Amino acid sequence: MRQSPLVLVANRLPIDDSVAPDGAFEWRRSPGGLMNALHPLLRHTPATWVGWAGGTGPAPHLPDVDGVRMRAVPLNGEDFRDHYEGFANATLWPLYHDAVEQPEYHRRWWEAYQRVNQRFAEAAAEVAEPGGLVWVQDYHLQLVPGLLRDLRPDLRIGFFLHVPFPPPELFMQLPRRAELLRGMLGADLIGFQRAQAAHNFAQLVTKVLDLPATDRRIGVGDRVVRIGAFPVSIDTAEMATLAARPDVADRARRLRQDLGDPERVILSVDRMDYTKGIEQRLKAYHELLASGDVKVRDTVLVQVVVPSRDRVAQYQILRDRVEHQVGRINGEFGRVGEPAIHYLSQPFDPAELVALYRVADVMAVTPLRDGMNLVAKEYVAARVDGTGALLLSEFAGAAAELAQAYLVNPHDLDGLKAALLAALRAAPEDVAARMRAMREHLGRNDIHAWAGSYLSALEETTSLPGRRT
Ligand code: UDP
Ligand code: G6P
Repeated sequence: MRQSPLVLVANRLPIDDSVAPDGAFEWRRSPGGLMNALHPLLRHTPATWVGWAGGTGPAPHLPDVDGVRMRAVPLNGEDFRDHYEGFANATLWPLYHDAVEQPEYHRRWWEAYQRVNQRFAEAAAEVAEPGGLVWVQDYHLQLVPGLLRDLRPDLRIGFFLHVPFPPPELFMQLPRRAELLRGMLGADLIGFQRAQAAHNFAQLVTKVLDLPATDRRIGVGDRVVRIGAFPVSIDTAEMATLAARPDVADRARRLRQDLGDPERVILSVDRMDYTKGIEQRLKAYHELLASGDVKVRDTVLVQVVVPSRDRVAQYQILRDRVEHQVGRINGEFGRVGEPAIHYLSQPFDPAELVALYRVADVMAVTPLRDGMNLVAKEYVAARVDGTGALLLSEFAGAAAELAQAYLVNPHDLDGLKAALLAALRAAPEDVAARMRAMREHLGRNDIHAWAGSYLSALEETTSLPGRRT
């Protein structure tokens, strides 16, 4: 078992950057899988969370929140532009998501990435206790394990990548590919969402660094680095409890009335991101309305999109295109008081989101590529009455676990239309049988099981030469 408090290192801190009315900082459940996955784990666990508090000023001194110590790492305007918006979200993010948008390579961005990773590593090195455990999260911080090991060889270091790790032919585009791989190899255990990602990584370290590697172990000098798949999950029980709350059930009933009490409600919930397949889904819906297979009076689509990374050009372009598409569909097929699409471009708190999950007869989750997709899992956990059809892209990590969903290739427009119709028209017994199997899976494989299996694997990593434990 863990002896000293865990140090978690992630790009963002889980706090609101504005002070609450009573002067206290609050946890922030910001939209994004990483934060929502880690939130239930650390809320009541002694830990230190190292991250960026938002804004581009000096690092604020933050109070503990629910026993978790907050250690802020500052980003100035240039760091924000070149590290967060640049290398993290305009180079790595598109490259790791099948290059569905063109990744950009700029030397200035790489310099910022190194500089900011160094700052995170120094902050983690300062707060970690001797022989302690540090868990580094996601693609913003891939150099941190290596930099931290140089500073503190006594630490046990974990790294988990929440997004996909791409196949060699894509990763090989990166001008600084060797440095990125070496940075990750500073960890004792590297966790991925899927076995395929671990396989891609093993192939790359052999190809680029000429290291002996299998899909489980990599030899780095006299060290052994373990790698493996640890599919992230949700707090299934907490989600079910929230969904069963009488106020949430009431809210769901009122929402259905407000939607005009249609026969079928379809729901989609995405960050505004080009990886989420929003345009493909809307196009399919448009064609189904045009062919008369779906009628506005019987069926409504509720599309929640949470604004994201909105100063990055590709995100701005996407938002304009999606809003144009929604306007066009509503213009052609809506009626007074009966829009074809209820378009909500704002973040919702968990209770409202779960009420929406409860209203949705069909949940349409159609990313072109996604590390996991927690929204899909949350929908299943929230369907406490055992009904509801999940339409799920086969390119979401979640598809490897939720095999009973209505699986679909979102690039195949006709296939997408057919799958959506199949989910809308499915027999209740079929829907219930699929939902039952998925709910059973998530009952066993929740966020606590995920953290438990990752951390025990990390704690089992053998003592390494140079580690003073
Ligand atoms: N989310 C939220 N409010 C919203 C929309 C989404 O809190 O209005 C949360 C949602 O509950 C989920 C997360 O944002 O936990 C999105 O995670 P996911 O893995 O689906 O996608 P990501 O945004 O990480 O790519
Ligand atoms: C994904 C990433 C997270 C990120 C989140 C929200 O889930 O894996 O690391 O925090 O999206 O994106 P943002 O850019 O707002 O942090």
